[in-house]
Amino acid sequence: MNSRRTVVITGASDGIGAETARALAAPDVDLIITGRSAGKLAAVAEETGATAFTADFAVLDEVRALAGQIAEQAGTIDVLINNAGGMFEPARHTVDGHEPNFQINHLAPFLLTTALHDRLAAAKGALVLNTSSAGNRAGRVDLSDLDLQRRRAFQMRAYGTSKLMNILFTRGIAERWSDDGIVSAAVHPGPVASSFGRDSFAVGLLYRTPLRHLGTITPAKGATPLIALARRGADPEINGVYFDRHRAQGREAPQAHDRAIIDGLWAASADLVAPH
Ligand SMILES: NC(=O)c1ccc[n+]([C@@H]2O[C@H](COP(=O)([O-])OP(=O)(O)OC[C@H]3O[C@@H](n4cnc5c(N)ncnc54)[C@H](OP(=O)(O)O)[C@@H]3O)[C@@H](O)[C@H]2O)c1
Repeated sequence: MNSRRTVVITGASDGIGAETARALAAPDVDLIITGRSAGKLAAVAEETGATAFTADFAVLDEVRALAGQIAEQAGTIDVLINNAGGMFEPARHTVDGHEPNFQINHLAPFLLTTALHDRLAAAKGALVLNTSSAGNRAGRVDLSDLDLQRRRAFQMRAYGTSKLMNILFTRGIAERWSDDGIVSAAVHPGPVASSFGRDSFAVGLLYRTPLRHLGTITPAKGATPLIALARRGADPEINGVYFDRHRAQGREAPQAHDRAIIDGLWAASADLVAPH
């Protein structure tokens, strides 16, 4: 019996994802890591022995190409950790014309994960982890305005909405793919003093000045819930669960269990990433 496992981690060129890659690298693990910056990613790949692919999630064609590269490399995927993301200025649209928090944090991982569905199903017991955030509570999804064109989009609201979508996507997977042996959970890693919020004045002030000593944790500590869940694997008990660090049933926005929003977001996302 083949006991090797394939683990894919996005956003592994820095912060929480890089620490998760360092911890999960092992002789019996085929590790695949992705990032936007080729130089930073190459350094983590060298350290961990991982196969590395670069893609900018602000460009959906790069995500499609990435899915193809991963599928070519891996016959099966045991663990997919959708961790790439950040807080972006809502007014700067992506090349695909989307609000960037929506595309980079939700639509791109939706595209990647659904494109890799057959590789996950082939593992007969796969886990999809989505790095969400306590910020999900500031989120509100309007299915008729996913790109926040009608509502005034403050950065925190746009970010929180995308992180709420990570939880809704987790539940969409739990609803649709459990017959394929695929389990999904969402995780808030904690307030982590990483490169997170590098474009945000407010986050920069809290995370990269002496104020950080008031409440942030290190990327290594922030990664521990992802590492623990990845090692736990496709346990049906965690299917559809949102963890606040190691604690199941973290606090969520009111929409997080709304079936119509879960299904509506899935349908709208599938439509947006479909080739037209
Ligand atoms: N730090 C926190 O306090 C906190 C709290 C809650 C949730 N989170 C979530 O945790 C996850 C990891 O964040 P982090 O704290 O580790 O931040 P980080 O140090 O900035 O790392 C973010 C990772 O995502 C990648 N990434 C960012 N934009 C991308 C894009 N357009 N295309 C492809 N990859 C992109 C980065 O790649 P490059 O570095 O190569 O550009 C990097 O590998 C994010 O989803 C974030 O929302 C963080």
